[in-house]
Amino acid sequence: MEYHRVARSGQVPDGYVRRFYAGELEIALARLRGTVYATSNYCTHLDCLLSSGKLVDEGIGCSCHGSVFDLETGDPVAPPATEPIATYPVREEDGEIFVGITGEDVKAGGPRRRKPLQHETR
Ligand code: FES
Repeated sequence: MEYHRVARSGQVPDGYVRRFYAGELEIALARLRGTVYATSNYCTHLDCLLSSGKLVDEGIGCSCHGSVFDLETGDPVAPPATEPIATYPVREEDGEIFVGITGEDVKAGGPRRRKPLQHETR
């Protein structure tokens, strides 16, 4: 695992979520009650950007259909999403935020591939 410097602490104020990149991986960085969390930027319901969502008491809320995910575990705590989002370890030191990712995280990141539409052939 490699830690990437992702942002200055001041770029993620308490109660906000924003989009950043850890190397090649697009992530959402959120600060809730003083702690910074890093997650996938893609909702597991229909791939909306979580950096466009809002933080709520229980975690990060998707602005599209209202799913909420726990920021520590990534588990969905409010529907319609049923699958967890990826979460990544964070270190905040000397006013800078670092996020640890692996090569597997980069491969698995981004929007989930949707199944192609099935067209009937006649
Ligand atoms: S895409 Fe996030 S709740 Fe539907």
